[in-house]
Amino acid sequence: MRAVVLVGGEGTRLRPLTETIPKPLVPLVDRPSLDHVLDHLAAHGVHEAVLSSSYLEERFRSFIEARHGRPRIVWITEEEPLGTGGAIVNALEHLGDEPFLALNGDILTDLDLTAMRAFHEERRAEVTIALHRAEDARPFGLVLTATDGRVREFREKPEEPVPGDVNAGIYLLDPAVLRGWPRARPLSIEREVFPALIAEGRRIYGFRGEAYWLDLGTPEQYLQAHFDLLEGKVRGIRYPAPYVSPEARVDLRAHLGRWVSVGPGAVVRPDAEIDDSIVLARARVGAGARVLASIVGPAAEVGDGATVVGCVLAEGARVAPGLALEGARLGAGEVVDPRSVTQGSGGPL
Ligand code: GTP
Repeated sequence: MRAVVLVGGEGTRLRPLTETIPKPLVPLVDRPSLDHVLDHLAAHGVHEAVLSSSYLEERFRSFIEARHGRPRIVWITEEEPLGTGGAIVNALEHLGDEPFLALNGDILTDLDLTAMRAFHEERRAEVTIALHRAEDARPFGLVLTATDGRVREFREKPEEPVPGDVNAGIYLLDPAVLRGWPRARPLSIEREVFPALIAEGRRIYGFRGEAYWLDLGTPEQYLQAHFDLLEGKVRGIRYPAPYVSPEARVDLRAHLGRWVSVGPGAVVRPDAEIDDSIVLARARVGAGARVLASIVGPAAEVGDGATVVGCVLAEGARVAPGLALEGARLGAGEVVDPRSVTQGSGGPL
């Protein structure tokens, strides 16, 4: 089976981390989150994955070169961002005549894609949309289905916090259903293509798998994905908790809580205390520093004796020794020292 993985979003909600790293390449414990997505696809028999983006393309090139094994990767450069629907239509010529998977590249899930395919075939569906049960559907919008699973309606984001089935961003599509859609114009699969196909009476079904599912869209969700992986909540993936890369240097006198991940080349100095946080590659946490509920980006630094709580430090950001920050967002390379009074932007995590 083939798949197209959408990796071309700007990742605005995950800024400032995505100022220098495309969202799908942001590390998740020991490797880019896109590696987790591709491994999951390979485990369900996907032999070829089409990746498409127009954004931060250089970074993807080194990712593709470094990646080994299945699935084989085909890269498409979008001249301009084509949106979720446009990117899929644009990839059609690489996807053959059989049903193919299309999925958002920023989702951590253990959904049984093999069962989803069997469901698709049994129903003779033209489109199958994976559904996730959300207790609060406000950020997503609802997908309403009939008792036989047939999708009746895509409903815009509700204003009240109601529970319901939401679009999980994973689809099985018969390529014929997309022929006729324009190739090179921006298009949303959720807002334009699916509602139009429903109105045409096409055979669109919703598949509810009992699965772990999380969209890595925001810093809170990105941290949560780590905690869940460290707790073993994602089927088929196991890490020690806390996770410390073999290439990190953590002083024996440092204290690491259970929900902590420390990336390669990172340095944690004596008496540092880290809880519910991730420290990415080449970052440095100084002696006696405290890092709580925070993301310390690649090559970022928390100085000796400094405290960060609910903070996001983008690549190369630096907090001077002894300072205390709460809820700060530091952009790439930003330095906070006693002379700068800014606490970044944004609220607490
Ligand atoms: P935000 O800006 O924070 O909303 O993130 P995002 O840009 O990634 O948007 P969103 O989460 O809605 O995107 C869902 C998926 O579609 C993600 O995997 C994106 O990478 C991908 N995506 C969004 N827009 C495009 C696009 O124009 N082209 C391609 N190829 N992928 C896209």
